[in-house]
Amino acid sequence: MSPVKEISAASLDTKEFIKEKAAEISQIVGSGVAINALSGGVDSSAVTMLGHMALKERLKSYFIDNGIMREGESQQIVSVFKKLGVNVEIIDAQNEFFDALQGITDPEAKREAITQTFYKEVFGRLVKKSEAKYLLQGTILTDIDETVARIKRQHNVFEQLGIDPQEAFGYKIIEPLVQLRKDGVRKVAEATGLPLGIFKRMPFPGPALAARVIGEVTRERIALVRKATSILEEELASVKAFQYMAILHNDRVTGMRENKREFGQQIEIRCWDSIDARQARPTRLDFSILEELASRIVSELPGVVSVTYNIATKPPSTMEAI
Ligand code: XMP
Repeated sequence: MSPVKEISAASLDTKEFIKEKAAEISQIVGSGVAINALSGGVDSSAVTMLGHMALKERLKSYFIDNGIMREGESQQIVSVFKKLGVNVEIIDAQNEFFDALQGITDPEAKREAITQTFYKEVFGRLVKKSEAKYLLQGTILTDIDETVARIKRQHNVFEQLGIDPQEAFGYKIIEPLVQLRKDGVRKVAEATGLPLGIFKRMPFPGPALAARVIGEVTRERIALVRKATSILEEELASVKAFQYMAILHNDRVTGMRENKREFGQQIEIRCWDSIDARQARPTRLDFSILEELASRIVSELPGVVSVTYNIATKPPSTMEAI
């Protein structure tokens, strides 16, 4: 297997890249059908546009509602793509994902459960239904680097781990963005006509909010971290940062509310400055912003008594908590 040849954002000719990748997709898929999962992140959005340019209605795009996405995300993304002439079908797979995650606390085991549910169960079914032989997906070079280095098993990396998707899941995977990093993907996304809200969108991980729940992932715990995420996204909307996130801890701590002891939950806030996610520093947020965040989180999320801000760098931290 030859190593992937990186194309830096600075040397990227987006027009040429789009032309080349659309031609490659057309050539591989031929007169057949391909499918792809759109999460609304910049990677999967760029791939959806490339696939749409190459295959038109022979690309079937799905938004997998896995129950671990942010508030209102599915409807919002489907409507953005509708405006661009791309039809996206929402697939309700919430029960399947929560069942697969039940009782799992180990971070890598969680990632693996999500991967298997996504690729084997949900996609296995969609491939049969659509008779597609190919899955188009937005793997980027950073995903591969971290998986190969065994730092985190990124949910969308197979070949580099010696897994043949054809054998494991029954379809082939096409990865047009694999030579790029995030900054390059943003340039491509913009050049395909995607709106600013998408091509500048903050990264969000494949394992979604499950990457931000330490310990078992349940509907209740996801609901809590989802609400904290909404507050964070409202409060930090005007802050220029690479990425921010709210994390629900597993340990409880003693707190007090209305003069009564409360053995409560802890939310950790992380906000990162970074160029390409390989290294990152905590953003020097104004303390008044942090105070407002803490005040809203403890008052709007019953049971939360502690809010912390991460001040470690990556490395040795990683950006997500699992
Ligand atoms: P870490 O936590 O590895 O995150 O420092 C680096 C960047 O990658 C995102 N991330 C993921 N993206 N699938 C993805 O598509 C994943 O499994 C995954 N895990 C982390 C993370 O949000 C950050 O931008």
